[in-house]
Amino acid sequence: MLLDTLYRVARPALFAMDAETAHERTFHAMGVARLVAEGARLRPDPLLARRVGGLTFAGPLGLGAGLDKNGVAVRTWDALGFGAIELGTVTGQAQPGNDRPRLFRLVEERALINRMGFNNLGAAALAGQLRALREAGHWPKHAPVGANLGKSKAVPNEEAVGDYLVSLAALRGLADYFVVNVSSPNTPGLRALQEKEPLERLLGAVIPAAAGTPVFLKLAPDLPDEALVEAVDVAVAAGCAGILATNTTLSRPGTTGRLDQAGGLSGAPLAPLARAKIAVVVGAAAGRVPVVGVGGVATADDVLALLRLGCAATQLYTAFIYGGPTLPSKIHAELLERARAAGSLDALVGG
Ligand SMILES: Cc1cc2nc3c(=O)[nH]c(=O)nc-3n(C[C@H](O)[C@H](O)[C@H](O)COP(=O)(O)O)c2cc1C
Repeated sequence: MLLDTLYRVARPALFAMDAETAHERTFHAMGVARLVAEGARLRPDPLLARRVGGLTFAGPLGLGAGLDKNGVAVRTWDALGFGAIELGTVTGQAQPGNDRPRLFRLVEERALINRMGFNNLGAAALAGQLRALREAGHWPKHAPVGANLGKSKAVPNEEAVGDYLVSLAALRGLADYFVVNVSSPNTPGLRALQEKEPLERLLGAVIPAAAGTPVFLKLAPDLPDEALVEAVDVAVAAGCAGILATNTTLSRPGTTGRLDQAGGLSGAPLAPLARAKIAVVVGAAAGRVPVVGVGGVATADDVLALLRLGCAATQLYTAFIYGGPTLPSKIHAELLERARAAGSLDALVGG
């Protein structure tokens, strides 16, 4: 298929570049990718739809946050067949992020290390993108679009709530769901907001301000199990629609050590740790709220393993960089074939 050919041809040149430069170049081609993808009809079959926290995801595999921080390629993600599309992280203020280089490939490990530090144009700019999509009638018909919110670096933790509320005020009524991100490792102090009292204060302010739009909480894989359980309890009590687990890890499981850089590790080496932490989160949620599993997902078997663990849906980021633009639709196609053979996706998951 044409997109695969384009990716195969472009990949050696892209992988010869600094990882972030390659990312930026690829974004210039997003319009073309969308047109090709539209022609190829890659959106998930209705048999794959999943109910997640009051929303219907078009399929069990969504786009994880961070790939499209400013929401510039929503129509392309939709056309490529993601079941849900998470944009951001955006912060209350526009900010440049950390110094470059800040994104590194570990090709043999099919992993990335990043210390981007929430480079983004700010919540108001994302709101502008989403409003324009809605007004032009280009909002995805089946894949919900979420906005992942973080804290501006210049704002101290004591004033974090206000910064999240600035983002919410800009984006209210525009996103299909929100994610409170307190789990990225590259904003100093951010992960302290996962602790009980700050988290209660934050969610206690954000959820009412979201005015009925579902709010998810995204957690880190580096939290001890007891802290994860506590965070899930706080989220449920506050009225969160669901939990996303996990973000990147500061630990270095399963890497060769050929390249080490400060930052969060994602991709294949994260999978076992993420899976163990997702199991803890699913157990703590105990069916009270859905869990979206993320971390090292790269195949239909990975998606199925997380659904069988009790996740309502999954996301990926890093595997997309290594697998290319047709990966989400290929994973959904394989799941569809197996779901049809089993009678339904639920039957496949149950079996
Ligand atoms: C370069 C890069 C940037 C990321 N930026 C964000 C972000 O802004 N907000 C967020 O919640 N997660 C961010 N993530 C984490 C991913 O959404 C995901 O949780 C993590 O990478 C694990 O999934 P994966 O192994 O499929 O990549 C980022 C990941 C990468 C690799």
